[in-house]
Amino acid sequence: MSVTPLSILTADQFDKSQLDELIEDSTQIAAIMQKQKTLPLLNDRILATLFFEPSTRTRLSFESAMIRLGGHVITAVGMQFSSLAKGETLYDTLKVMESYADVCAIRHPQEGASAKAAASISIPVINAGDGAGEHPTQGLLDLFTIARYKKLGEENVRVAFVGDIKYGRTIHSLLQLLSHYPVELVFISPPELGLPQKYVEFLTRSKIRFESTSKLEAIENCDVGYITRIQGERFVDHQQFEKLRDYYVINKALVQKCKKDLIIMHPLPRLSEISTDLDDMPQAIYFEQAKNGLYLRMALLLKVLNVKLPSK
Ligand code: NCD
Repeated sequence: MSVTPLSILTADQFDKSQLDELIEDSTQIAAIMQKQKTLPLLNDRILATLFFEPSTRTRLSFESAMIRLGGHVITAVGMQFSSLAKGETLYDTLKVMESYADVCAIRHPQEGASAKAAASISIPVINAGDGAGEHPTQGLLDLFTIARYKKLGEENVRVAFVGDIKYGRTIHSLLQLLSHYPVELVFISPPELGLPQKYVEFLTRSKIRFESTSKLEAIENCDVGYITRIQGERFVDHQQFEKLRDYYVINKALVQKCKKDLIIMHPLPRLSEISTDLDDMPQAIYFEQAKNGLYLRMALLLKVLNVKLPSK
């Protein structure tokens, strides 16, 4: 009997107990990795990273995670350097992957591309960003980060999302994950870049309290500020992007007016939306957040390849 592999395609596929388990595993891995460089549980396994959109952290942290687990990595980066540029379909590119690799992580400009990929091949597929759709592994590492700093699950956590709520796929994934916990969400964006209707309906259905505004001051009574860049590559009208790109700037003066224990997160890369004068404030945890991505992705690779942590 063939078993359908566990793919990671959307934040919506997780229930609360799976999220709690992932947070627990990532916490355990983070502790182990303070003491050693590798945790060789995936010897001889191969990860293929297929990235057809720009990426630095996501691809490299997946690759680092696999290598630190003792596995290997093969990679194809950029449409222009792959056979897609010769006119090959994504399906044909992927179809051969199942004999080259045991798991693949895909980033593609089209929404739904990784779900299509998962339906056509027999190895687990991890969605590493599909256009303006979702970015579930970033959402998971963001959730893990919030859980490390806040009493997630025990106390009500007020999270402000700032920037490009319309096209920001990391926001789309994170809001769905947060809906399993006691939270209140505040969406701060230029009016043109507000929360897509689909997520308005999702939050309403999930009975999550949320509000939308264009006023940056709304961050002042929040526990988490999740800042994003305006996603220039998704705009049809480049002039509109130029008009909005510097709409918000979070700086030291603003953060000093906020709650003392506010944490400022950002999936990176940043443009000008977080001033560098914030970098040395204890509230600025975006580099720590990126580091957490390594532990979370190690936990995820173990999960999809069905390998347990030693203590389990
Ligand atoms: C994000 C993405 O690709 O959606 N980056 C990332 O993976 N860390 C956010 C962004 O590009 O703005």
